[in-house]
Amino acid sequence: MAQITDPWDHHDWDSRDYVRDWAERQDAGEPHREPAFAVLAETMPFEKNAPIKFLDIGSGYGALAAYLLTQFPNAQAVCHDGSAEMLALGREHLAGFAGRVQFIQSDLSQPGWSKKLQGPFDAVVSSIAIHNVREYETIRAIYAETFTALNAGGCLLNLDRMRPSVEEQLQWLRDGGFANVKSFWDGGKRAIVGGFKN
Ligand SMILES: C[S@@+](CC[C@H](N)C(=O)[O-])C[C@H]1O[C@@H](n2cnc3c(N)ncnc32)[C@H](O)[C@@H]1O
Repeated sequence: MAQITDPWDHHDWDSRDYVRDWAERQDAGEPHREPAFAVLAETMPFEKNAPIKFLDIGSGYGALAAYLLTQFPNAQAVCHDGSAEMLALGREHLAGFAGRVQFIQSDLSQPGWSKKLQGPFDAVVSSIAIHNVREYETIRAIYAETFTALNAGGCLLNLDRMRPSVEEQLQWLRDGGFANVKSFWDGGKRAIVGGFKN
């Protein structure tokens, strides 16, 4: 995976120890993430019993995927991450969803990252992952590539740090082809932005 050297992102997602330590700390704060996950699930334009297929970009150990697999009991998930260590942890955390989830590694910062993910998808979601690529042009390209991986009627919902601003992220979504683009939740440091594919 591309090296992250920025001072505000000292992550080492390729290290087993770092990943397990990060996940443990994140686990402790898990209940705080639920209100945002709930908004995200309610914004997905599908009945809860629909047999949808969704992609979790930068899924980490699968916290958001697990939440959505519970909310949508007939859904199938693809958990995507650039880190083999995170995907290994995800397989452990989501063992209870065996048969409903696949784990696929690819580097988001590289054009074509979505090609091996076995889409198309009804929904693409992500939680505090996409900002890790840092370059604004790369985030913009990720939104555009995500659009091509969606079925008509599908959505992209990204819970993330808004760097640069929410307004700029919304414009990148429009530029990528999304309709009815908006911010669905504002948590101060984080927001949920997204849009729909007509
Ligand atoms: C802050 S964690 C969030 C994990 C998970 N979505 C969650 O909310 O718990 C960021 C994740 O993005 C992944 N990631 C960072 N840069 C990436 C890249 N270039 N390609 C794919 N995944 C990447 C990391 O491996 C890590 O699992």
